[in-house]
Amino acid sequence: MTARDFTIFETRDALVAAAAGRIAAILATVGPRGAVCLTGGSTIGPVHRALAAPPLRDKIPVDRLDWFFGDERFVPAGHELSNAAQARATLLEPLGVPAERIHAVPTAAATPQAAADAYARTLAAWYGAGRLDPSRPLFDLVLLGMGADGHVASLFPGQPGVEETERWVVGVDEAGHPPHVARVSLTLQALASSRALLFIVAGSDKRPALSRVLSGDDLPAARVRSMGPVVWLVDRAAAPERPSK
Ligand code: 6PG
Repeated sequence: MTARDFTIFETRDALVAAAAGRIAAILATVGPRGAVCLTGGSTIGPVHRALAAPPLRDKIPVDRLDWFFGDERFVPAGHELSNAAQARATLLEPLGVPAERIHAVPTAAATPQAAADAYARTLAAWYGAGRLDPSRPLFDLVLLGMGADGHVASLFPGQPGVEETERWVVGVDEAGHPPHVARVSLTLQALASSRALLFIVAGSDKRPALSRVLSGDDLPAARVRSMGPVVWLVDRAAAPERPSK
């Protein structure tokens, strides 16, 4: 991993500000029909709020972007655990994103797999094909967090979704990490099909998994790293110990 791909910020606030600036810079370069894949979790909320406030909000080409989700908790749309509800409240509504440009996972479906299959159809319709072409990424930007167990989106270590190579989206009946609700998750190939991927990782609880990712352990987050143009933005608390002098 080159230095360009991995930046450590001394504080979480500095990480949030840098991440928001980086996202706005990437989104400013999208073409006429851009696509962003958002993440859930707690780290991303302050980044959303920074993006939705001046001066960064003015850089975001709302009229050229559609918004998708890398994963979702299988809960009702307005539920407090819903990633889409968090994104609407902290980013999409403040930005004035039209409802038709927000593509939430249909968690009203009968099962997580039914929701996953429906969402895969949404993604394929947007993409215009049922197979991903490496020369034509599905997304312009994919935002990712990493769990303390090294999961990414809702692809948890040891679970079949990590190994899925055909489907773009899978249902996850048992989350391997809190919150322990069923999930719907894009698979690695769908997440990696992007012009840019940004991991935003903060907190000392992430340090063990991040150390393992950097040392090549086969965690889901490490798999993404080897599949696309990933940039890591981490805070000091999450970064592996500095090598002793
Ligand atoms: C989710 C996320 C998940 C998250 C990581 C990190 O639905 O929870 O998509 O992958 O990004 O668990 O979460 P925190 O930022 O809360 O540590």
